Amino acid sequence: MKPPLPFIDLAAQRQKLGKRIDERIKTVLDHGSYLMGPEIEILEQVLVGRSGRRHCISCASGTDALQMAMMALGVGPGDRVIVPDFTFIATAEAVRLVGAQPVFADIDAMSYCLSLDSVESIFEDDDSTIVGVITVDLFGHPSQSRQIEDLAGSRGAWLIVDAAQSFGATRGGESCLAPGVMSTTSFYPSKPLGGYGDGGAIFCDDDGLAGDLRSIRVHGSGEVAGSHDRLGITGRLDTIQAAVLLTKLEVFDQELECRQKIASRFGQALGESIRVPSVEDGATSVWAQYTVEVDDRDEIRQFLNEVGIPTCVFYPRRVSTNLPYRSFELAPDGVPVAERATSRVMSLPMHPYLTDSDQDRIVSELLQALEN
Ligand SMILES: Cc1ncc(COP(=O)(O)O)c(C=O)c1O
Repeated sequence: MKPPLPFIDLAAQRQKLGKRIDERIKTVLDHGSYLMGPEIEILEQVLVGRSGRRHCISCASGTDALQMAMMALGVGPGDRVIVPDFTFIATAEAVRLVGAQPVFADIDAMSYCLSLDSVESIFEDDDSTIVGVITVDLFGHPSQSRQIEDLAGSRGAWLIVDAAQSFGATRGGESCLAPGVMSTTSFYPSKPLGGYGDGGAIFCDDDGLAGDLRSIRVHGSGEVAGSHDRLGITGRLDTIQAAVLLTKLEVFDQELECRQKIASRFGQALGESIRVPSVEDGATSVWAQYTVEVDDRDEIRQFLNEVGIPTCVFYPRRVSTNLPYRSFELAPDGVPVAERATSRVMSLPMHPYLTDSDQDRIVSELLQALEN
């Protein structure tokens, strides 16, 4: 194996980062603008610069971001929205929260992202009330968002990119946040850009839409002080979270490089023994998760757990098998790829500060588990 990451003293960097975050939080505590403080606008400007979009509207979570995006588009009862059946629940949940119906599509076997063919088959079957499609950049890998946006557009439907897991990923030289009428992300603590609590953001290019989103974020507040022009929510990002995120953004690119190197090492060491994730040509992943596929998942997880290596299963069941979603339709050809993934995927520990010896131990114990 190659010597890992000799150019960064990871422990020192982590300690310095923690100290800078503490200082920046202290600044917020001193000025006392806990909501919509100056750090919010600074963060939004920095995120605009990284997204290739004209506007960034920070908000309280990635789920709120999706819900607010659909509220701004006027999505509601009678509308159907295509979502993947293999994703975190929030993608479909946001559709239900605005009163619309999810239509569950299959995923691509290589990337685990929404399948273009499956989306097409849903449109072919009955496109009458489909108003939009939400792609999800699963595990940090960007979806085929531009192709899906073109397909949706040809049917008069919009695209929203759920980039909750992929902030920083690119495809075709552009940010994964660039396609669609809007894109959304999450700053949940375990995300590649994670805060010290919940947080999210919406990205768009349209000035009118951006204004509506800023209003929805604060109970539909109107131009005239004290007026409310539309329905809204308590959707603001806390200023303290903005302060944390601004500090983490200072090292974000370096952290992505670390994730990339760890993913390459895992791939080289494990690729001949199990199915490891791959990245499509022209795309970059941010490795929110390093997800492999194995046959005897329960046994392997148990073995790893016993030797102190935690693993997670994202996701053990399809979204549409959960109680609130069971009555909604699936793609005409079903969702066999999503179904297969639920029984095989397993995510290994992945974060930028995984030491060399941690990585070696994960690899050797997993190889051992596979031999048993
Ligand atoms: C694909 C996806 N969409 C939406 C969300 C919702 O984000 P949040 O937890 O910030 O509400 C998540 C978060 O885990 C996610 O992974």
